[in-house]
Amino acid sequence: MGVLDLASSRAVAATVVVLGLVLSFGVVCNGGKTSSFVRKVEKTVDMPLDSDVFKVPPGYNAPQQVHITQGDQLGKAVIVSWVTVDEPGSSSVLYWSANSKKKKAEGKITTYKFYNYTSGYIHHTTVRNLMFNTKYYYVVGIGHTERQFWFITPPEVGPDSSYTFGLIGDLGQSYDSNKTLTHYELNPQKGQAVLFVGDLSYADNYPNHDNVRWDTWGRFIERSVAYQPWIWTAGNHEIDFAPEIGETKPFKPYSHRYHVPYKASGSTSPFWYSIKRASAYIIVLSSYSAYGKYTPQYKWLEEELPKVNRSETPWLIVLMHSPWYNSYNYHYMEGETMRVMYEPWFVTYKVDVVFAGHVHAYERSERVSNVAYNIVNGICKPVKDQYAPVYITIGDGGNLEGLATNMTEPQPDYSAYREASFGHATFDIKNRTHAYYSWHRNQDGYAVKADSMWFFNRFYHPVDDSTSAE
Ligand SMILES: [Fe+2]
Repeated sequence: MGVLDLASSRAVAATVVVLGLVLSFGVVCNGGKTSSFVRKVEKTVDMPLDSDVFKVPPGYNAPQQVHITQGDQLGKAVIVSWVTVDEPGSSSVLYWSANSKKKKAEGKITTYKFYNYTSGYIHHTTVRNLMFNTKYYYVVGIGHTERQFWFITPPEVGPDSSYTFGLIGDLGQSYDSNKTLTHYELNPQKGQAVLFVGDLSYADNYPNHDNVRWDTWGRFIERSVAYQPWIWTAGNHEIDFAPEIGETKPFKPYSHRYHVPYKASGSTSPFWYSIKRASAYIIVLSSYSAYGKYTPQYKWLEEELPKVNRSETPWLIVLMHSPWYNSYNYHYMEGETMRVMYEPWFVTYKVDVVFAGHVHAYERSERVSNVAYNIVNGICKPVKDQYAPVYITIGDGGNLEGLATNMTEPQPDYSAYREASFGHATFDIKNRTHAYYSWHRNQDGYAVKADSMWFFNRFYHPVDDSTSAE
């Protein structure tokens, strides 16, 4: 099945669910499927520095690595970021919509050094007070080489605002990464913003964490992220902790290059924060910052979850890097300590779905929880729980480290579907009760829908949706 067939298969899926609701008819799924699809094993290698996707834009001091993300809690602001290399230049962003005057926003410039590397001039400018659901054009590079882009703001936050998120994780900059990004761009479901679950450039796999690979990555993804916001999560490849070369400040390149609106949600750190976008409330957590009791992240999340008003944002989505439910033999149980700390809250507050990366493959869980254990009672087994989120591991962007192919056997009951392929997904929120989720593997140059599920909202429609998987 090719990319173009996806629209028709989606229509069929919609029909099936409608029938299912009316006639109690559903697609039977017993859970625990390990895909029979076996990807041809090829070495995953990074694209060379002279690849066209890494090309430096022409012109004196031309802005490069242009990227945007949400700039406030509601989606009325956008952080525009870019790098200039010849001189600092202007941090102004000129922006306008079809029916508004041109306006200018001013920003700031930062630079950093990492071992023997010195960054370009990194610009971050927040454009505020935008109208919802409006196309804006923007120009950067004023005074030197100007470049123009555009973005569309989300609909106003509200319970029935439909919206489509893309999901990409562990992307890197290999030939496979390029296929994943291309498939996402060509997906007829048209993601409007990307939820990125961590591990961006993989520059740290190079000698001395060669930060030139942070620059190439920024140029590689510009074709998407200059036009739609990517919502950032920090992964282990963002830590860049290298005491052997004197680099002891974790997250230095990442935190200089990728800004997020963490203060808007009362967070004291860019590694955990929340945003609202359309009908979704998105909480981003850091697997690599302290999360134990009394820590800043713990205290923030403890106060954050009660703030989520499901009658305003029915969909509660959590992003983190290291998965809690993972049946591959890679990074096995790395997420366990955070699960022990926070899983009871996720059940109490009825999180709809948790997206994680880290494991370079794909997996979707049943709705399960494992919160009964108290060190003496021995009850330590995931059990089906309709108040629990679905856990999705989507660390399959295609980075140079290659695929995770080795799975634990037999497949545990909590694992609904798993497959060792690269790919991406979309989470298509229709209204307050239904969202259509689909995962698309990279297969022989095409994106092929390999797993999908109608999500029923845990607040408005908390009935069993496990049989809605296809
Ligand atoms: Fe990772």
